[in-house]
Amino acid sequence: MTYKNILLEKKDGIGTIKINRPKVLNALNKDTIIEITNAMIELENDKKINAVILTGEGDKAFIAGADISQMSKMTPLEAKEFAERGHNMLNTIEKSRLPVIAAVNGYALGGGCETLMACDICIAAKSAKLGQPEINLGISPGFGGTQRLPRLVGRMKAKELLLTGRNIDAEEAHCIGLVNMVVDDDKLMETAEKIAGKIASKSSVQTNFIKALVNKGADIDLNTANSLEISYFSSSFSTHDQKEGMKAFLEKKKPEFKGK
Ligand code: COA
Repeated sequence: MTYKNILLEKKDGIGTIKINRPKVLNALNKDTIIEITNAMIELENDKKINAVILTGEGDKAFIAGADISQMSKMTPLEAKEFAERGHNMLNTIEKSRLPVIAAVNGYALGGGCETLMACDICIAAKSAKLGQPEINLGISPGFGGTQRLPRLVGRMKAKELLLTGRNIDAEEAHCIGLVNMVVDDDKLMETAEKIAGKIASKSSVQTNFIKALVNKGADIDLNTANSLEISYFSSSFSTHDQKEGMKAFLEKKKPEFKGK
């Protein structure tokens, strides 16, 4: 597949999607949203890929939000279709078998902040700025910001950020649990690749199970979620990787997982 608004690289079991519209700080227009969705599906279907890094081109922005010049001309119906495309992109990331690491290299505002919240692990460069400034444009978030943000940082903190439209720096984002870690700007990709590489070396059956259990469990009651865990746990015992992992441990060797 060819892409115009993103760069897609595949190396050592890791797929890297780089949003490539630096002149507009990697703002998400309709075509870019479609391309990120398609790239995720392409990586999902590539059995050699076991982890994904999502980042932005240039040193200024991860994603500075949905494309305001495109949105400024939308009718309510077009805005609905646009929001549905955004939700579909983020659901594709969230439901993917692949762990997705957001490497936040600058502004992650509006749709940018909403995108990193759908990822599994988020690493921010020290200079990153995050926030949901939609209120300053006379709109509310359309790609899940009012829903994923309170689930991640709590309702009060989420409401403060959503209602004031205030941007926060990487350290504050780390303090409130919006990002996993903050690293020096020049160490961002190295750190993301190291974590992605570590994850890609595990059993891909289990990285898929763990991601699915945590995400599904967040939306259902504890008893049902725990039953789901029991069923995934027991079905692990029909896999090569369970036999290999336990045998390797007992023989004091490094396991060779096959993802089956
Ligand atoms: N949509 C469309 N274009 C955007 C954009 C967005 N979300 N964010 C930035 N751009 C464009 C700017 O219009 C500008 O284009 P120009 O060079 O043709 O004028 C270019 O990217 C550079 O942005 P600029 O504002 O000049 O950079 P800055 O360093 O002064 O400010 C920001 C950076 C991120 C603070 C500022 O661009 C901004 O507030 N962007 C909008 C953020 C937002 O509200 N996002 C949520 C949208 S729902």
